[in-house]
Amino acid sequence: MKIKRIGIITSGGDSPGMNTTIKSIVNYASIYKIKSIGFKFGYRGLILNKYKRLSNNKVKNIINLGGTILGTGRSKLFYTKKGREIAYKNLNYNNIDGLIIIGGNGSLKGISKFSNEYNIPIIGIPGTIDNDIYGTDLTLGYDSALNSIIRSIDKIKEIASSNNRIFIIEVMGRNTGYLAYYSGLALSPLYIVYNNEYNINKIEEYIKNNQNYSNIIIVAENKYIGNASKLIYKKIKKNINKYEIRKTILGYIQRGGSPSCIDRLLGFLFGKESVKKIINYNNNIVIGVKNNKIININLNKLINKKKKFNKNNLYNTYL
Ligand code: F6P
Repeated sequence: MKIKRIGIITSGGDSPGMNTTIKSIVNYASIYKIKSIGFKFGYRGLILNKYKRLSNNKVKNIINLGGTILGTGRSKLFYTKKGREIAYKNLNYNNIDGLIIIGGNGSLKGISKFSNEYNIPIIGIPGTIDNDIYGTDLTLGYDSALNSIIRSIDKIKEIASSNNRIFIIEVMGRNTGYLAYYSGLALSPLYIVYNNEYNINKIEEYIKNNQNYSNIIIVAENKYIGNASKLIYKKIKKNINKYEIRKTILGYIQRGGSPSCIDRLLGFLFGKESVKKIINYNNNIVIGVKNNKIININLNKLINKKKKFNKNNLYNTYL
């Protein structure tokens, strides 16, 4: 059966590179005379049958835009059988014969159920700044977020120097320390807290013996760590009087903005590969990248596995 119409959904937290991927899907699909439509605000749009027709002309100038032109969201209804039933009816109603989802772990979990229940090719693309998806070295948006973090923290370091302050800076990443660790390597901080094995007394010691080496401590937001930045800030503020201590939560500034070169390239490759898979009627696949090669990850395997934090040996050797 020839695929004629595909649906695209961006779901969960947006990430830079989602728009590049949408453009890649629409452009590549059009070569095979496949029409693309984009559902609005994640799975919610699929359930409410709210969509936009996409064309090469409509996606011409979106390559540099952060966020997602389709909107995104986290739909509770899609996690119910009833919600997925409505979603499937809408796909049929619109004559859609393939679906591509760009999103994080939660969004990919959603499609795993759906594709086991209904017979339609569904392909996932890992889109999240957190880089926490099993099986892929990189997720869309991670590199852009790293770049946003280092640009923002460079500015904070200027304030820290001018005011003789130490800043505790919390960065995003949900339950993993990728953003904290790898941005930290590029910022020369006093300490990086990227998992729950940090030592608060050591941090204090580093500040006391600082010798102007650095003025920042980077801390991963991490629900397992249990609000580490707050605890560290409290303890250090109480015990250190050589410096003024400040705390900053970097927040959503990390998630917005134009995608980096790497995220644009990933977006193009992920988009193209996902269309190829749909054309071949593949199902239950998430596109990823491993050792610089585009790979396919089994969706059912992915949702049951947690990505292990991976320190790159190259940096361990030289820093
Ligand atoms: O998953 C991306 C992310 O930005 C995480 O780093 C963060 O914990 C979370 O989303 C914030 O979620 P929300 O946009 O729902 O506040």
